[in-house]
Amino acid sequence: MSTVIVSKEDYERQKKYVAKLIPLMEDRMVFLGRPLTYFIRTYGCQLNEADSEKIAGILESIGMIRWNEEDEDTRPDFLFLNTCTIRENAEDRLYGNLGAYKKWREGNKALFIGVCGCMMKQSHNVDKIKKSFPFVDCVFGPADIHRVPEYIYHRLIRHRKLYQVSEEDYLPEDLEIPISHERKFRALIPIMYGCNNYCTYCIVPYTRGRERSRSSEAILQQLHQIAELGYKEILLLGQNVNSYGKDRPGEMTFAQLLAASAEITSFSRIRFMTSHPKDISEEVLLTMQKYPNIERHLHLPMQSGSSRILKEMNRHYDQEQYLKTALRFRELIPEGTISTDIIVGFPGETEEDFEETLRVMRIVKFDNAFTFQYSIRPGTKAAAYENQIPPYVVKERFGRLTELQNALCADSNNSVLGTVEEILIEGQSATAKHVLTGRTNSNRLVNFTIPDGTVYKGQTLHPNDASFNANALEGELCEVRFTEARPFSIEGELVRLIDD
Ligand code: 5AD
Ligand code: SF4
Repeated sequence: MSTVIVSKEDYERQKKYVAKLIPLMEDRMVFLGRPLTYFIRTYGCQLNEADSEKIAGILESIGMIRWNEEDEDTRPDFLFLNTCTIRENAEDRLYGNLGAYKKWREGNKALFIGVCGCMMKQSHNVDKIKKSFPFVDCVFGPADIHRVPEYIYHRLIRHRKLYQVSEEDYLPEDLEIPISHERKFRALIPIMYGCNNYCTYCIVPYTRGRERSRSSEAILQQLHQIAELGYKEILLLGQNVNSYGKDRPGEMTFAQLLAASAEITSFSRIRFMTSHPKDISEEVLLTMQKYPNIERHLHLPMQSGSSRILKEMNRHYDQEQYLKTALRFRELIPEGTISTDIIVGFPGETEEDFEETLRVMRIVKFDNAFTFQYSIRPGTKAAAYENQIPPYVVKERFGRLTELQNALCADSNNSVLGTVEEILIEGQSATAKHVLTGRTNSNRLVNFTIPDGTVYKGQTLHPNDASFNANALEGELCEVRFTEARPFSIEGELVRLIDD
């Protein structure tokens, strides 16, 4: 595997396929008397989501529109499944869903089904798809997204199935690829691809390849375009953003890139994921402190609180170093929140090791945590360890871990009750049609009501009317007073909408 910068010629070739596909799609639409639709099901992390936004952009560039999932009476014409292999249950979900999508195909022989993403980098999964799910039209890898026009053309014209997962670690230039962002206020911006860290439990370095950074010049050009389009939130993405630029001699550091992004003041929320505790610098924390439009939130995966286990995991930091960084963040940005990832049941984890994890959780008082039961990933170093922990022990520890974290989440949300904060509205809440949802700049999830008669852009809003559409407020900023804390969200009431 080696890094290959995608050449100008390759993009030109793809653009020619797009040009050939447009009339083909138009003919089909005329024949069907309706638009062609696509649906992308994304499993896993935000890097996969960013890849899906590129697939969506490409499909829209050849004339398709997004399928409305809520429309029970129709099915999409093109279906893509963007897979994840980080834990076994993500894989199980794909195979379960493929069984269901087979029925869609039986109902529409013309349905195009593509499967891509991290799972496809493992040949046993491609073999399984060939054998057990032969109706899949096309399989490609996470580094092959820019070639989607070619794949579709190939399948539609040559009528041959295509299984093409490149060995190379392609470094695409996102400015050359059409992107359709899923949310109208948020743009996902990959700043680097791959990971060099080889944590012993993790499959990512094998599926996403070596670390490769985009040029900061291209990233900033993209950010200026995004700002012009009115996006308020950007999410700078990489498996380990703190090592951004290290593979490009003379490139900006991550802290410099973060500061340059924050200078684009039309962005009200600059977020980034993921920070590796071994690489995060004081400069990054100071940059966060300096610019109020950088999210007051740090996602700092701890994985384990035991220095011994951290060593076995190949994490290159110990409990003391982790605590130092987390507490420094608390000191510099006291109103900020810290979230983390924790794995329980890593091979050889003793009760004492696990208690160290609980101890650090109590010290840092994580505001939020993504907690996982260790899942053996064939091909990783830890998969071969002999001291695997019995599932019943893992489950029992996981129960104690989530109990503690739920209490910490509730404490964190309780600590801000009565205060007023700025919220970026995401749309209608999952709880009720008249309730809105959004996030604070510290990434707290807030569900809130608006008083009847609130005036928005010259219109008077009646939230209890059947015609009220909370999603029309997506992307607006407002102030909300917090009235009630729940473990994973806060309830509130609107103080005022903030006009631009
Ligand atoms: N088992 C359980 N959790 C894992 N993660 C990564 N690999 C595994 C695994 N084999 C978790 C880590 C990582 C997050 C994205 O997924 O906590 O930070
Ligand atoms: Fe996996 Fe470790 Fe890389 Fe994160 S830093 S993607 S956990 S190998």
